[in-house]
Amino acid sequence: MKKSVAIIGATGLAGQQFIPALQNHPWFEIKTLAASERSAGKTYIDALREPSGSVGWWAEGFPSPDVQNMTVINSDDFDPTTVDVVFTAAEVEKEGVSKREATQALEARFAQARPTISTTSAFRYEDDVPILIPGVNNAHAALVKQQSQRGWKGFVVPIPNCTTTGMAITLKPLYDAFGINVVIMTSLQALSGAGRRGGVLGLDILDNVIPYIVGEEEKVQRETQKILGAFDGTQITPADFKVSCTCTRVNVQDGHTEAVFVSLAKPASVEDVKRVMSEYGRDIADLPSAPPQMIVLHDDPFHPQPKRDRDIHDGMATVVGRVREDPALPNGIKYVLLSHNTKMGAAKGAVLVAELMVREGYI
Ligand SMILES: NC(=O)c1ccc[n+]([C@@H]2O[C@H](COP(=O)([O-])OP(=O)(O)OC[C@H]3O[C@@H](n4cnc5c(N)ncnc54)[C@H](OP(=O)(O)O)[C@@H]3O)[C@@H](O)[C@H]2O)c1
Repeated sequence: MKKSVAIIGATGLAGQQFIPALQNHPWFEIKTLAASERSAGKTYIDALREPSGSVGWWAEGFPSPDVQNMTVINSDDFDPTTVDVVFTAAEVEKEGVSKREATQALEARFAQARPTISTTSAFRYEDDVPILIPGVNNAHAALVKQQSQRGWKGFVVPIPNCTTTGMAITLKPLYDAFGINVVIMTSLQALSGAGRRGGVLGLDILDNVIPYIVGEEEKVQRETQKILGAFDGTQITPADFKVSCTCTRVNVQDGHTEAVFVSLAKPASVEDVKRVMSEYGRDIADLPSAPPQMIVLHDDPFHPQPKRDRDIHDGMATVVGRVREDPALPNGIKYVLLSHNTKMGAAKGAVLVAELMVREGYI
């Protein structure tokens, strides 16, 4: 029998992508859609409507008639014991508390009862919480056992920030094979990464690049070190290489592009780097949402391009091109990557985490 799931924040840009990721899923079925009081009581299709009446659907395909007609509930009224797994894609605002505290309170209420896979940052930096990328740090999953000390019957597992995901995936094989001393990265991030409600105004981004995304650089630095950190069965010791990044917003709908410069601990040729990247990630091949290759390499120097490459392996591959030596850094290597921010970087990446947790016996 399939496991029933709820999607919290189902009307948002990340939340919408859960619909194609879960419709016809072999292990999971959508039972509940929840969002804010703005959407509560409406059918899903009506909750997606903008004030003009147009349907604000930004994910691929279209929801099935069954999903369109589901009634969206207020997340405050959602009883997590009515489903097997909860997926969250909602940052909550409440007067008198920070966004993080309000979102933690929401996710903790679910995690007390059920496995909760989150796309938000609310719990990412807690000591008893792993930030999981299947294929990269599967062993960190065992940390969720410690969450029973909070009195929870379930647990919370966040995925990384969507800008961290592709970089951590490409760094992991390099770290394992050659070690890393320093990582420098500049991102060119898609508009959908800013969400639908907060968003970026069309007039601000048209003909423009915005050189700052609040809080993003700190998240990427901290999360990369935690994800690639060593887990000794009790705690994660963050990886000790330095990460420096500049995160920018560009006029692209979906797909974050990143220029990455790595100073390796040991010398490696371009061919060595390509080999370890292309061989990486086979241990999740049995998961239904896993891409056939985690890292897809391009030899054509005009790739990766968001428009052409973001949907490779249904947006679950990290696409890498322009791998070359960097003479400006000791043992320097540089490359360009592309990662789909609302698929691998959000909803379908969270579904992949749930699949891993099922396979490993935590769900
Ligand atoms: N966009 C991305 O590429 C991406 C990638 C990775 C992670 N994320 C994370 O995913 C989360 C959502 O981002 P987004 O881009 O999808 O934002 P968004 O498009 O603005 O959507 C926000 C969603 O949150 C819902 N919401 C607001 N208050 C709520 C409440 N009290 N209870 C339940 N739902 C509530 C909204 O419902 P209404 O429609 O009813 O207002 C909407 O569904 C953020 O934490 C973000 O960092 C986003």
